[in-house]
Amino acid sequence: MYTIQISFEEEGLMPISLTNVEGGQTLLEVAVNNNIPLQHQCGGVCSCTTCHVYVEKGMARIREMNRREEDYLGRVKGANMESRLACQSLLLEDRGEISIRIPDQRRYLKNT
Ligand code: FES
Repeated sequence: MYTIQISFEEEGLMPISLTNVEGGQTLLEVAVNNNIPLQHQCGGVCSCTTCHVYVEKGMARIREMNRREEDYLGRVKGANMESRLACQSLLLEDRGEISIRIPDQRRYLKNT
């Protein structure tokens, strides 16, 4: 089981701590299942970048990035070595602590 700390760049959103999170699911699935605001406009098939997150702790507990994810992350403004697409970030069947930071999601909602 994992403990996942989630912080937000959007002002006014308080950090969240999730405990007893099972491996074998993606960070996007964890977010959706816990009503955490994280956009996923392509439905989680690695065809957009709206699920971009920063993994600040625990990257080794997430499946390695593939070429497609790497290509999409290359299009994300502000991406860095901590960047992952949540829909591609599968938690390994293990346990431990992961900390992620979610960029301000309002940028994706401006014209909707
Ligand atoms: S939801 Fe579109 S790339 Fe993750």
